[in-house]
Amino acid sequence: MTRKPMIAANWKMHKTIKEAKAFMAEFLPKVAGMKHTDILICPPFPLIAAVNDSREGTDILLGAQNMYFEEKGAFTGEVAPAMLKELGCDCVILGHSERRWVFGETNELINKKVKSALEHDLIPVLCVGEKLEEREAEQTDQVLLHQLEKALEGVEESYIANIIIAYEPVWAIGTGKNATAEDAEKAISLIREYIHSKYGTDSSDKIRILYGGSVKPANIGEYMKLETVDGALVGGASLEPASFAALMEF
Ligand code: PGA
Repeated sequence: MTRKPMIAANWKMHKTIKEAKAFMAEFLPKVAGMKHTDILICPPFPLIAAVNDSREGTDILLGAQNMYFEEKGAFTGEVAPAMLKELGCDCVILGHSERRWVFGETNELINKKVKSALEHDLIPVLCVGEKLEEREAEQTDQVLLHQLEKALEGVEESYIANIIIAYEPVWAIGTGKNATAEDAEKAISLIREYIHSKYGTDSSDKIRILYGGSVKPANIGEYMKLETVDGALVGGASLEPASFAALMEF
């Protein structure tokens, strides 16, 4: 089973429309004709339309960084799945650790969002990961399995293979302290085994699982050579065209 790799940019709360357009103008020629990996860009909401225009005629995938699970209604400040679809989004990051730990998102809320995204034909990029104190207390496996089980509760089996999971240890995000290849492999194998035990071989063979947390051009090769790691979700190193393009050369 060969899964197509994916290198995903999470721009977080960075860039203006002008800066996003300038990024795309510089980035696209650098990756023109590249077919060995999927490239996903997840800009902040106000930049999505501009990035969608710029990517026309390319295979670049577009994603949002969050959404609400309801269709519409009195939810001030929230964004509905159909709105993201209309803007051209293919994917949506859900359960990112900054959503969990800065904005208090619970596993229950993330589960509703995962189901809603799938119903609206948006591919969830579901983030899971342990905090430093959980790792130190040797609770990593337990935390990952709990987050996965809760996030996927009630999701139809036929959807599972299309979901993208990102293993992002909280202590590695934006800290420059990337997980060792060994730790990433252990966690991602655990996630794949969980998918296998719960949903069977077809799902576990097809589902893509990314590593995220201080990935840079200098360390991406360590992860990409591992059979079970299918790509990376990248914050800081995705903000500059040269560095994001260099990540495709694994
Ligand atoms: P980082 O962020 O690459 O800056 O560590 C990764 C992420 O939060 O997805």
